[in-house]
Amino acid sequence: MVRSIIDVPDLTPAELDALMDTAEDIIARPDDYADACRRKKLATLFFEPSTRTRLSFEAAMYELGGNVLSVTGAGTSSAAKGESVADTAKTVSCYADIIAMRHPKEGAALVAARSASVPVINAGDGGHCHPTQTLADLLTIRREKGRLGNLTVGLCGDLKFGRTVHSLINAMSRYEGLKFVLISPEELKVPSYVKNEALKKKAIPYTQTTDLMDVIGELDILYMTRVQRERFFNEEDYLRLRDSYILTPEKLKKAREDLCVMHPLPRVNEISVAVDEDPRACYFKQVLNGKYMRMALILMLLGLKAGGDRV
Ligand code: NCD
Repeated sequence: MVRSIIDVPDLTPAELDALMDTAEDIIARPDDYADACRRKKLATLFFEPSTRTRLSFEAAMYELGGNVLSVTGAGTSSAAKGESVADTAKTVSCYADIIAMRHPKEGAALVAARSASVPVINAGDGGHCHPTQTLADLLTIRREKGRLGNLTVGLCGDLKFGRTVHSLINAMSRYEGLKFVLISPEELKVPSYVKNEALKKKAIPYTQTTDLMDVIGELDILYMTRVQRERFFNEEDYLRLRDSYILTPEKLKKAREDLCVMHPLPRVNEISVAVDEDPRACYFKQVLNGKYMRMALILMLLGLKAGGDRV
């Protein structure tokens, strides 16, 4: 089986550091990477809505001099005829050198990876995980704070269905001196499997609260998330919970001067647009960092480096 990336633990901490270093190198000298993926093709198979992640992968491949084949929406592909994920992966492996896949079902990317003969990158599988968003998040934290350890990280909103949160906890739990503050309504707490594996097993300190204002002053990072409407079983619960947290300039007055406010986007109401002017707002920087990290990941999985040389 070729190497695929289904979740963050598929990458060692040393590899994560190397990916961030490559991303920094791409930022510093983009021209050296302009042909690195010449004649290579990335297939983006997106069976769930996306703006950022798909375009980010596609922009990443184009900036590496490669090409892109794209499927968007289950309705326009053979999935609508009943084709299995495994068969789709085998088929697409005949056309592309690497696959990025988003799917509404947890585990779909793993199934694809087991059948594909080219690397598969999980671009989000249901409410499970989203490793390349985490790559964007890690580079943002490293660039903004200068470190990935010794931080108090607040995660706020839908921590149950928010797959970016699950992958981020997993990734950050590997650094020293971390403390997590989990801020959510009772119904949307971090699932126990994530807490057990990433936090309890490693004895990483964390607290859980429903009140953002009680803890905002302690945080180095505040990672806001959207309430994941598409994963709710009924609309009433969604409507009741969707505006649990709305970050405003007023609330930020209680926060540290060097707080880093993050959000994987899309935002709905969780961060008022007035916060965008605040120098602590880092969520659009995350978007850009995501493209550089995806470039670095594509290079790594294809065994290529600047100039198109093999590693
Ligand atoms: C996230 C996702 O798809 O999980 N978005 C993204 O990839 N940037 C977060 C979300 O949809 O709320």
